[in-house]
Amino acid sequence: MDKILLTGGLGYIGSHVAVELCEKGYDIVIIDDLSNSEDFVLDRIEEITGKKIDFEKGDIRDAAFLDQVFKKYPIDGVIHFAAKKAVGESVNKPLLYYDINVGGLVCLLKAIEKTSIKKLVFSSSCTVYGTPESLPVTENSPFRETPSPYGKTKQMCENILTDVASVCAYDIVSLRYFNPVGAHSSAKIGELPKGTPNNLVPFITQTAAGLRNRLSVFGGDYDTIDGTAIRDYIHVVDLAKAHVQALATSLGKYEALNIGTGNGFSVLEVVNTFIEETGQEIQYSIVDRRAGDVEKIYGDTTLANEKIKWTAQLGLKEMVVDAWRWEKKLKDASET
Ligand code: UD1
Repeated sequence: MDKILLTGGLGYIGSHVAVELCEKGYDIVIIDDLSNSEDFVLDRIEEITGKKIDFEKGDIRDAAFLDQVFKKYPIDGVIHFAAKKAVGESVNKPLLYYDINVGGLVCLLKAIEKTSIKKLVFSSSCTVYGTPESLPVTENSPFRETPSPYGKTKQMCENILTDVASVCAYDIVSLRYFNPVGAHSSAKIGELPKGTPNNLVPFITQTAAGLRNRLSVFGGDYDTIDGTAIRDYIHVVDLAKAHVQALATSLGKYEALNIGTGNGFSVLEVVNTFIEETGQEIQYSIVDRRAGDVEKIYGDTTLANEKIKWTAQLGLKEMVVDAWRWEKKLKDASET
């Protein structure tokens, strides 16, 4: 397999996967509508990899656009990142989420049906488990009620893919991401939140950079070591490498794999690790719980270790240090 199409390839996760694929000798083509990404990311991927990257601007819901891309390039595999991911926004704009995440996937699958690709890798999320009954969650843990339309779209997409996998000619892998954080060690690519960040680590780094006054820690009364919620944070470069392994390994018709570290950290553990490792001060207050948050979730990653010979290598320290290096680079760039 050599030519891989990345939908949403200029986004946070897509751009890191683009770099890892190029470094492993794959040839890639990126499509992106630039709705939540910047075109300079393409230049940065080219700078890091030293390769010229094929890019087409367009929307995955545009059938004619997709047909034209598949006609222009001899594509062997597809990694589908293009989707909306803000949990709170999805509550206020459910149709937008169903349209882009579910409608977009269906449109892509219809275009793929006319091609001879061999594999599709789908960006799923641990959100499919809802509030889990027991921890760590395994791939056999049931899809439980999830409060946000965002979470429901990921469950629906996996259900659609399971049905399609039983009749299509290519294999499908859903990677269930836990909480991706950090940035490439070059600090040339990283997360670029538009407006106020929803996610914890960009909020921490922006607070340290002086862009935000104070971090609100959502909930101090959870049943956890320090009362704050627990997540399985994973370095985005480790996550990116899991995609390369998933593409390169022969699996069954449909496989879903947890992609995390298997370790849970509380919000305050993340904040304190950031302070210790970077020497930056962070003002924070413990406030009410955020609606829709689960108390704790972390994954059992044995299946990914066994099936795609992948395991996360980087720890929380590298995650916060790399996130801070990226934030400082953004700050320096905005001041010059
Ligand atoms: C959620 C989704 C995940 C999705 C991700 C992308 C669920 C269960 N998870 O992750 O699938 O990929 O969003 O946006 O739906 N926190 C604070 N203060 C802040 C921000 C966050 O205390 O300013 C806390 C949260 O309450 C949570 C933890 O930090 O306990 C992580 O939050 P966040 O980074 O937003 O990710 P999730 O909500 O876990």
